Amino acid sequence: MVGASAGGLEAFTALLKALPADTGAGFVLIQHLEPSHESALAKILSRNTLMPIREVVDGVAVERNHVYVIPPNKNMTIRQGILRLAPREETSGPHRPIDGFALALAEEHKSAAIGIVLSGTGSDGTLGLKAIKTAGGITFAQDPTTAQWPEMPTNAISAGAVDFVLPPKRIAEEFARIGKHPYLMASVHAPAGGDLEKICMVLRARTGVDFQFYKHATVSRRIARRMMLAKIGSLEEYVQFLKQSPVEAEALANDIFIHVTGFFRDPECFQALRKQVFRHLRKRSHEDPIRVWVPGCSTGEEVYSIAMLLLEDLGDCTKQPRIQLFGTDVSESSIEHARAGIYSESAVIVPTPARLKRYFREVEGGYQVTKEVRDVCVFARHDLTKDPPFSKLDLISCRNVLIYMGPALQERALSIFQYALKPTGFLFLGKSESVSACPESFRVEDRTHKIFARNPTGALRRFDFPKSGYHASDAFLAANGRPVDSVADFRKEAQQISETSRQRISALAASLLRAQEKERRRISRELHDTLCQQLASLAFDVGDLAAQTSPSDVARSHLRNIQARVVRMSEEVRHIAYQLHPSELDDLGLSAALQALCDEVSKRHRITIKVASNDVSKQLPLELASCLYRVCQEGLNNMAKHSKAKRASVTFIEEHGSVALSIKDDGVGFRVEAVEGKGGLGIIGMKERARIVNGNLSIQTEPGKGTTIELVVPLPLSV
Ligand SMILES: C[S@@+](CC[C@H](N)C(=O)[O-])C[C@H]1O[C@@H](n2cnc3c(N)ncnc32)[C@H](O)[C@@H]1O
Repeated sequence: MVGASAGGLEAFTALLKALPADTGAGFVLIQHLEPSHESALAKILSRNTLMPIREVVDGVAVERNHVYVIPPNKNMTIRQGILRLAPREETSGPHRPIDGFALALAEEHKSAAIGIVLSGTGSDGTLGLKAIKTAGGITFAQDPTTAQWPEMPTNAISAGAVDFVLPPKRIAEEFARIGKHPYLMASVHAPAGGDLEKICMVLRARTGVDFQFYKHATVSRRIARRMMLAKIGSLEEYVQFLKQSPVEAEALANDIFIHVTGFFRDPECFQALRKQVFRHLRKRSHEDPIRVWVPGCSTGEEVYSIAMLLLEDLGDCTKQPRIQLFGTDVSESSIEHARAGIYSESAVIVPTPARLKRYFREVEGGYQVTKEVRDVCVFARHDLTKDPPFSKLDLISCRNVLIYMGPALQERALSIFQYALKPTGFLFLGKSESVSACPESFRVEDRTHKIFARNPTGALRRFDFPKSGYHASDAFLAANGRPVDSVADFRKEAQQISETSRQRISALAASLLRAQEKERRRISRELHDTLCQQLASLAFDVGDLAAQTSPSDVARSHLRNIQARVVRMSEEVRHIAYQLHPSELDDLGLSAALQALCDEVSKRHRITIKVASNDVSKQLPLELASCLYRVCQEGLNNMAKHSKAKRASVTFIEEHGSVALSIKDDGVGFRVEAVEGKGGLGIIGMKERARIVNGNLSIQTEPGKGTTIELVVPLPLSV
């Protein structure tokens, strides 16, 4: 499906032009059209592709390598490969034909569905792409910078509904590649058995969540999808990639968690909740708050929906009971979104217009839930399967979470709910969920709408809460009888991952420091060569102007004044440029730069600094010279700020193939343990710099006994 609105013709034309005519896919274009005009779209587009294009008539079957265009003033869906047209309905909000078609496509074609949103205004398509992604399909949005009207793709991207953000031509290329991937073919090789276990171990080490206990079919399908997106064909290669890439591990975990949600999802169930459960809560006194827990709340819509219902329902009580809603989810980013309570236009079309008016405020980027509602909701990251639960609850709403869990995890979650609810409490599940894993703990209140009451006579089931994620996983392993060997394997895997991560972080830190140094140098040159020169010339011109006025003229003293200010400004800029990167380092070498630095610190802070150096090579590589200079600068700055030193010495010596820098002061000293690991005194920065050039940094200090910093760096053979 390709959805487009304003500016869509240009984008779709570019896409069609770049698409091979034999991708094997059928294309359905849902373009927003003027309802009362005939459309010439099919005709116009046919000039740009070899694929046959036609405007849809009701009942047409979709064929591969054909393009179908929606006619004006219609809604379109797909059922069993047949396109169905219906008259466009009058709605209070904007017309959303793209969402309508994409929802039907997702339901029908699941992981074989592909959705593309191109240029347009509004947010049609966002819900549709979300549905396609949730069903395991692939989604694209036009890169907003290339769209005539970027709003529609931007909305879909910011809702997290998009896998690829590309210009139309690149979408076509990627599309052609994906069409050939086994994931979209019937013969998909989804991981199972040992392969699946390996991937789950890597994920557990990365995220703390054990996906072995989630439904294997869902986990495997999601892995296959991610492999396709990452352009990886073999499982071994994917496992390696996953081990090295925290970003990929997070993306895969997020795909498995499936954060799709919405306000008043299944509205009839919320109506039933109100009727069957809230009537018991109305009699509650102010001192006895109503407590609700929503585990797996994703981005918060379910929590806010229940809060709105409760506020509406209890609003006319003479003395309103207090309400406390706890929304939790294993995903930190979902919880952050929930806390902010800001949702796109497409997300808030579900609440009625009256609710939209009463409970939302328009803000930049969408609509924010009002403070009245936010104030009764608290959000926290929490893993339902291993973190201690809330207690004394009147209601637990855990919708569309158990559905992704295997039987053992479902049983555990239901035991936790039984414990967390008051004996009179209720459980509200998703439409396809049940309490069959713990039938004796709950009785059915409303089977259709999935409302259950805690069985007050049912014996509490046992479950434990390990202290940390690691032990939680071990406990699960023991409980499920996995061989102990695999725990050792897991530790080994975890160590390898942590070592790889450490190396990657080090490499990243090194390249950041290099980039910083390069940028400092560039800005320093720019300031020195351009701004300082211009300020000097300005000072000169102003002086010239002053000289042309008569000595008694008041303008002369004003001009002299301005000239002096410009000169001061120029000095200030020169100083900033110098701090950023001293030109001596490039022009005269490290010894001269260090001498100038010590002179400057000595003058500014009135500390006597003795400098000694032997015949150090002027040709030190810039990276090495910069490192030594920065360590000295950081050390002297710390000394000036914290040590109360009166005297210091800096020695800089080259011998036995190394250079050694030493900064020694007679100040108050400090305890290294007190600052180490806390980022104090820039020690981490100094150590990182030393590490990049294979240097060894040591700090000797004690309270009252001064400080000595020493850095020894081996010289490269070429020097
Ligand atoms: C499909 S969403 C359901 C959202 C919402 N309850 C609804 O029905 O609209 C499933 C959510 O469960 C969360 N989840 C999965 N496993 C979890 C766990 N062990 N603890 C807490 N949340 C979990 C996922 O992060 C995801 O946000």
